[in-house]
Amino acid sequence: MSNQNPNVIWHSNNLSTEERHASLGYTGATIWFTGLSGSGKSSIASATEKLIVTSGRPSYLLDGDNLRLGLNEDLNFSAEDRHENVRRVAEVARLFADAGLIALVPLISPYRDDRQNAREVHDRFGLRFFEVFVDTPIEICEERDPKGLYKKARSGEIKGFTGIDDPYEKPSSPDLILTPENGSPEDGARLVLKLLEISY
Ligand code: ADX
Repeated sequence: MSNQNPNVIWHSNNLSTEERHASLGYTGATIWFTGLSGSGKSSIASATEKLIVTSGRPSYLLDGDNLRLGLNEDLNFSAEDRHENVRRVAEVARLFADAGLIALVPLISPYRDDRQNAREVHDRFGLRFFEVFVDTPIEICEERDPKGLYKKARSGEIKGFTGIDDPYEKPSSPDLILTPENGSPEDGARLVLKLLEISY
């Protein structure tokens, strides 16, 4: 917990995370989906949200693209801004997890260190964090090109596009790897839910 201003001091809740989760009957957690644009992160996360919520449990999708239209509208795709994007979303997800929800975060999050920081933000508060690598080869992402962005990146209309002329660092030890062989987004979501079955 750091702030440049020494006069900002952490205020503790009267309710601990354990008491909150025990009283609500839900244990919050964050599931972080990383992978290239068009890899299927958002579709799998969205299917996961549906499975959890329709079973009567609280969950919320914090979609990278959508957050960039609001909370993160001031950020672009430089390394510095991607870093800030991941930092902010990790903090928001941590709050959701603390509140007892399953926060689902599909974000390219191309840098390993940033994802590690997201995990540590949760670790510090004793909250569970799972990293899911949506490992779809770039050839497939590019073929899908749902938003026409790969085409623009190839033609030079977009500069610094992840996987084309900007880096993507693969996770070294993710909690789960999903590839196109795992089937539909719903099939993937069922595998994701197995991560939570440990104590959920
Ligand atoms: S991240 O790198 O900062 O984690 P984030 O997941 O929020 O990225 O946003 C990625 C989405 O922004 C992509 O799915 C794509 O729709 C869009 N986008 C626009 N420009 C770029 C770019 N230069 N690189 C990657 N994605 C981009």
